[in-house]
Amino acid sequence: MTRVKALGYLGIGVSDMAAWEEFANDVLGLATTQRASDGPVRFTMDDHDARIVAHPSGEDDILYAGWEVDDAAEVEGMAERLRAAGETVAAGSTEEVSARGVEKLIYCEDPDGIRTEIYCGPARSGNGGFQSPAGVSGFVTGDQGFGHIALGTSDPDAKLDFYRNKLGLLLSDHIHLSAGPDATMTATFFHCNPRHHTLAIVPAPLPKKLHHFMLLTESLDDVGRALDIAASREVPLASALGRHTNDHMVSFYLFTPSGFEVEFGWGGLEIDDSTWQLKEYDGISLWGHHRVAGP
Ligand code: FE2
Repeated sequence: MTRVKALGYLGIGVSDMAAWEEFANDVLGLATTQRASDGPVRFTMDDHDARIVAHPSGEDDILYAGWEVDDAAEVEGMAERLRAAGETVAAGSTEEVSARGVEKLIYCEDPDGIRTEIYCGPARSGNGGFQSPAGVSGFVTGDQGFGHIALGTSDPDAKLDFYRNKLGLLLSDHIHLSAGPDATMTATFFHCNPRHHTLAIVPAPLPKKLHHFMLLTESLDDVGRALDIAASREVPLASALGRHTNDHMVSFYLFTPSGFEVEFGWGGLEIDDSTWQLKEYDGISLWGHHRVAGP
């Protein structure tokens, strides 16, 4: 059955475009590929034209997620799958297809109203390699997409059903989190390619739909240098350096100019779905990730 293969791009609505461009370029090391006057700014981290797109629409939250499939037939296959599951699916207009720089595009909404786009044929720069303005040696992308996202929700059943049974994401594991003195809640992690997880669902109505997005670097030194840059620029740290239990990633979390977080990491586990066994954990970190600020 057709299913999505990678999380290829992320659209965010922001209130302070100048702050975002400086943060993306100088702290995260993403390169600006296009800046429309009073319009979106597109950032890349590899040979794609756009991995993160900031729109000056003021929500300071996720606007859309772009899920990649192999070709136009698979885009149609996903449209059929989603419609058969009761979703309202529309084809992207000529303007939308052009704006995203893709070959073909359909979309629907997830249970929390996040525009969920399925596409094929992303535009690539082909100009001989990505150069990070902050000196990041490289990001792990390719068939693993741009990274991962973590979403909160007040309707976990619908959210899990949408991503697992409708988009076709595959279960990686669960982490049982403390949610007060006598309460726990279970976060669910999904993969759709060798990246251990491309999506995490937190079963709680968080202040923003997007809790964080994650970028994975090629080198541990990239993570250390980003920590130094963030400290020198007094970017607020949300969680200190640590290593996750489930994907073994060494990472830290910053608050973005929009208030949601970005996880910046190295060393994420790659898995093979044909042999992967569902796992359960009682904590998110082997060490570190001590909360510095925020909820
Ligand atoms: Fe994460």
